Amino acid sequence: MIRPAFQAALRELLKEAETPFYAYDLGQVEARAEAFRAAFSKARPFYAVKANPALFLLRFLRERGFAAETVSLGEVFRAYRAGFLPHEVLLNGPVKPPRVLRALAAAGVPHLGADSPADLERIARHLPGARVLLRVNPDLPVRTHDHLATGRGESQFGMLPEAIPAAYRRARELGLEVLGLHLHLGSALTQPEDFAAGYRVVEGLLETLGPQPVVDLGGGFGLDLDLGALAPLLAPFHRRAGEVWLEPGRYLVARAGVLVARIWGAKATRRRYLLLDAGMSHFLRPALYRVRPEVRPLYEGGEEAEYDLAGPACESTDVLARGVRLPAPREGDAVAILEAGAYGSSMASSYLDTPRPAEYVWDGEGWFVVGERERYPALFARQRS
Ligand SMILES: Cc1ncc(COP(=O)(O)O)c(C=O)c1O
Repeated sequence: MIRPAFQAALRELLKEAETPFYAYDLGQVEARAEAFRAAFSKARPFYAVKANPALFLLRFLRERGFAAETVSLGEVFRAYRAGFLPHEVLLNGPVKPPRVLRALAAAGVPHLGADSPADLERIARHLPGARVLLRVNPDLPVRTHDHLATGRGESQFGMLPEAIPAAYRRARELGLEVLGLHLHLGSALTQPEDFAAGYRVVEGLLETLGPQPVVDLGGGFGLDLDLGALAPLLAPFHRRAGEVWLEPGRYLVARAGVLVARIWGAKATRRRYLLLDAGMSHFLRPALYRVRPEVRPLYEGGEEAEYDLAGPACESTDVLARGVRLPAPREGDAVAILEAGAYGSSMASSYLDTPRPAEYVWDGEGWFVVGERERYPALFARQRS
């Protein structure tokens, strides 16, 4: 899905912009943010920074009432840079070494998701009295890609339900301010029943622990989920917790973004390929999760045929899309790879000394740069010879 006006604007941008680049339709972010806030009007949303950490987007979402969910010290610094205050930031993640906790003591202590008993002990030692949520691993067969399911019992995240009461007591003994419970089932979930099953586990724990100041039910909202069907599932938590927090990432930004690449050749082996100037360094999700994104031509071409779109890396996994019907292109024609607004630029790397792409935002009238293309000297700047 891509708005025709945005597609037309991309063709204008292509007259001057170097490929590959990421481009975001701000109206789409705004519409998704509004839809999310309207569906869960009583909950407090924390935007998952990892989905797309562009400072511009962080500011934009903060102005629309979102707090920030982070998983690294770098993301906390980034959120502070974008204007979030410590009480508007939550730091999750299974590993928080002492150096990270000491840095937080200096920079401002956010809310913390405690992922294990050892995490609790370390947080208490370095950040006395910190506000913590206990991450629950609900031990459920969450239906999504294996790499995205964090709520299965065998995953490394959180504490199993039976371990939560002891962790809760220990957190209080340690003098931490226990805010409540945190659940994050996984990413790109499509089944409301999976959310319901996870929420039931948290409800069971609330029976044991009693009402809490906060219940954080995480993110994972798939792009086509009917939020209206999900919203009623939050009702029990609004009764038993002071605040309900949510952590959407993909839902807000994925459809707003595209990766634009030019085609620099066509060839046939046993399959028919178009060769792009973007690949797994720029957009990792097809290689990592076998996602097969939709693709739109940004050119008028010849007869249609079915192509695989390969990138410049010397790895057979560097194929961004397979079996895409496209008009025959000329060299230098461009395509837009859709649903690249989440986990696109944030997962881009400089693998193969490939500069990270520029990022542009379209506000319905014009384009502006929100991320410069990485320069070659920056690739070498860290190293000493
Ligand atoms: C703890 C936590 N919260 C929220 C998210 C955001 O997930 P999504 O982008 O699928 O909404 C993630 C993603 O990995 C996560 O690990």
